[in-house]
Amino acid sequence: KIYPVILSGGAGTRLWPLSRAALPKQLLPLVEQTTMLQSTVLRLAGQPQLQAPLIVCGNEHRFLVAEQLREAGVAPLGILLEPVGRNTAPAVAAAANYLLALDADAVMLVLPADHVIGDVPAFHAAIARAAGLVADGALATFGIVPTAPETGYGYIQSGAPLAGGQAFRVSRFVEKPDADTARQFIEAGNYSWNSGMFLFGARAYLDELAQFQPPMAAAAEASVRLGYRDLDFCRLDEAAFTACPSDSIDYAVMERTSHAVVVPADIGWSDVGSWSALWEVQPRDANGNATRGDVYLDGVSNSLVRAESRIVAVVGVDNLVVVETDDAVLVTHKDQVQRVKQIVEHLRNGA
Ligand code: GDD
Ligand code: MG
Repeated sequence: KIYPVILSGGAGTRLWPLSRAALPKQLLPLVEQTTMLQSTVLRLAGQPQLQAPLIVCGNEHRFLVAEQLREAGVAPLGILLEPVGRNTAPAVAAAANYLLALDADAVMLVLPADHVIGDVPAFHAAIARAAGLVADGALATFGIVPTAPETGYGYIQSGAPLAGGQAFRVSRFVEKPDADTARQFIEAGNYSWNSGMFLFGARAYLDELAQFQPPMAAAAEASVRLGYRDLDFCRLDEAAFTACPSDSIDYAVMERTSHAVVVPADIGWSDVGSWSALWEVQPRDANGNATRGDVYLDGVSNSLVRAESRIVAVVGVDNLVVVETDDAVLVTHKDQVQRVKQIVEHLRNGA
């Protein structure tokens, strides 16, 4: 049985000022009418091999997450609450321990809660292909054809073909390389981007983690064993989880394992990692503008303009991002959107 595990703990800082600590990217209706978390669970519907999803999120978001699932009409298998964020490797490890207590042969489909997938049938076909590869302990990744030397992604080098060329062994996994290295990977041609989605046996993942990060594996196991039910939630033990080292699944496991395989996934994927990425996946008018809310445009092209609480008028400019909210306004050129992250750091440091 395949259990979807939805990671819903990120901050989405590059989408400030809309995405905030209290209401991060995955809990917002950024692209569609439904929130990104809702879209993530809704696109799993109607697939009999997929069990109800297990959500992993921060304690502070528990009511929002539960309410959004209810609103979407999705009954989760469970909602695991992290007392503190310890990045994705411990979150996946906690989910793996939780699932193994229910099903010793549990296979997990790890999905970020904040991605867009344009071609859902192709997505399900890729899941089925991956599921056919993991019986012997392989860890499957989903590879995206890279379009630019982005440094915010993991890069996967394909090795020997498997399943008649429908998948490959991973000969190398490099998380977030520098720009020069990313350029070399793109030129080499046999690299794909890591989509951040994974499929593997819960046992296989924990075995690898125990080998590479024994303290993390032990802390995650204890956090579930000592955790307890609270209403519809499962609270991970605070002391155990807080003591857990922090790391992403990519650095902790995927860069080190020798059992990784990659399934090419041409599925209209985007991680909507920035305002320009959001502009790209949104419907646009004849002038290339993507707008939301009460917006007046005159002589504007290829821009993203979003009004949350006031009227926003933009005149005679192109390639801008203008995002208005109750208490903050962002104006930036579309090719400078990566610098939004620094705004959040600046504000956090008590400006
Ligand atoms: N529950 C939980 N707890 N979820 C978390 C936590 C956490 O502590 N930290 C992050 N997440 C969630 C995020 O909400 C997101 O859905 C997912 O896990 C991935 O985390 P990101 O922080 O967005 O990772 P990334 O974008 O830097 O990199 C990953 O995704 C790329 C593709 O978008 C890596 O897997 C890269 O290799 C990959 O290319
Ligand atoms: Mg991400």
